[in-house]
Amino acid sequence: MPLEISDDAVNVFRRDGFLFPLRVMSAIEAESYRACLEAVEAERGSLTGKFRSLKHHLVMTWLDGLIRRPEILDPVAKVLGPDILCWSTSLLIKEPGDGAHVSWHQDLTYWGLEPGDVVTAWLALSPVTRQNGCMRMLRGSHASRLAHADTEDDSNLLSRGQTITTGIDEDKVVYLELEPGEISLHHGNTAHASDPNASDERRIGLAIRYIATRVHPTEGQDSAMLVRGVDRFEHFDAETRPTADFDTAAMTEHDRVMAVRRGVMMEKG
Ligand code: NI
Repeated sequence: MPLEISDDAVNVFRRDGFLFPLRVMSAIEAESYRACLEAVEAERGSLTGKFRSLKHHLVMTWLDGLIRRPEILDPVAKVLGPDILCWSTSLLIKEPGDGAHVSWHQDLTYWGLEPGDVVTAWLALSPVTRQNGCMRMLRGSHASRLAHADTEDDSNLLSRGQTITTGIDEDKVVYLELEPGEISLHHGNTAHASDPNASDERRIGLAIRYIATRVHPTEGQDSAMLVRGVDRFEHFDAETRPTADFDTAAMTEHDRVMAVRRGVMMEKG
């Protein structure tokens, strides 16, 4: 099911800083990925909240396959060009009543990546609604950097509670509701936030961070996985794909990659 997005859709992305919804798989396939995720949780424990970790695609083969799906990479390539690295993945699960929320922020203010050829594909593995805490975005905000301040709030999923303090025009706020198997795309500089899950069902999403190979880390060393095209720049250490879930080689690679990244402030939300 290759997904052709039109030039008009690309123009909407460039104008607004986000684009949704794009169906990249059937609801049944999304359900099967959710079953993979919940099987991992049944065996190894919760992937929610503080149990989250980045880059699970380095230790789970089904995630390694997912980040390479042409239905996702084709629209991403329309924006980033043909040579694409996967810089990170995050499983973003909000349990009913856990209070987890994300304050307004722009990812690129603290990701240490330049230039800003950075796109997140956010895949819904459950229904994602206003009630259960979907993302909301500020239309056009990717065009400039807004002022952020650190806040103290443990229920904020951002690592330092980085919050945009001014400049949120409520008339430009859009709620990105998604059905299972749909993605949204957003630019790394698009201001976004999300509310707590007020439903009685889990909200499950996978954020896949893609960057063009021309992007480079601004602080120290970093690593990434080539998922399409050729890396002629080699600004990032190459990562190795897993061949079996959680085997020694995959776990060792994940540890290596996290050590490379240590000291670089990461978004957790
Ligand atoms: Ni974010």
